[in-house]
Amino acid sequence: MTIAEEESDTSRPTGDIMLSVSGLNASYGAVTVLRGLSLEVPRGEVVVVLGANGAGKTTTLRAICNMVTCSGEVILDGANIARSNTADIVNRGVAHVPQGRGTFPELSVKDNLLVGAYTRTDNEVNDDIDRWFTKYPVLGERSNQAAGSLSGGEQQMLAVSRALMSRPKVLLLDEPSLGLAPIIIEDLFNTFKQINEEEGTTMLVVEQNANLALDIATKGYVLEAGEIVLEGVASDLQNDPAVQEAYLGA
Ligand SMILES: Nc1ncnc2c1ncn2[C@@H]1O[C@H](COP(=O)(O)OP(=O)(O)O)[C@@H](O)[C@H]1O
Ligand SMILES: [Mg+2]
Repeated sequence: MTIAEEESDTSRPTGDIMLSVSGLNASYGAVTVLRGLSLEVPRGEVVVVLGANGAGKTTTLRAICNMVTCSGEVILDGANIARSNTADIVNRGVAHVPQGRGTFPELSVKDNLLVGAYTRTDNEVNDDIDRWFTKYPVLGERSNQAAGSLSGGEQQMLAVSRALMSRPKVLLLDEPSLGLAPIIIEDLFNTFKQINEEEGTTMLVVEQNANLALDIATKGYVLEAGEIVLEGVASDLQNDPAVQEAYLGA
């Protein structure tokens, strides 16, 4: 491939937004948690939403998937998916790795991947399973073992592989670093970056662990008490004193 072709491969038309959320409000009973939240995830990019505990990160992903009472606009690849039922939203290409482990601990590793492919009607499901097993040999080696017997980091990788089995347009990752050792988190985020680069997977990651998340993202948002208070290019946020103080332990 020539350099020119390589460059055109990685470029994207401006305005090519895979997921766009605007004016999103969400509540639990009488308690409003998100207030007019707007964000955009360009096709093929990784975007991160940073926020402290209780800021509304999980609720944001749940609102995109219509798993909580909400209003506002959610556009996926040009189609309005706001308040469609959750199964439809999955069918239309949103894969959600929830906070905690997004796996079925009693099911085998392989069955977890098969569950992730339940929306597919093509005949390449087994090829995809083989691909993930080759890429992450630990999953292949333990294909028949219960997912619950994997380590925390391995389970998180399985949860992500399971989500990718649906060949989603966008992958939503809810605090993937939660409860994992720093070295494992670093590996995991490197893997996310690799998946993004190799598969072109668009990702929206919500995290408290700002440093690693901003390292793999192009763009970031800061969420405080259900509102976006800051947004910018990931590297600019990394250098922002307020972000450093609040999220980078500076
Ligand atoms: N099921 C629920 N019922 C009532 N309040 C909730 C529920 N889930 C979350 N909340 C509240 O909503 C706010 C945002 O929570 P959440 O989205 O889980 O934040 P984060 O993921 O950023 O830690 C918090 O104040 C939390 O207490
Ligand atoms: Mg959360």
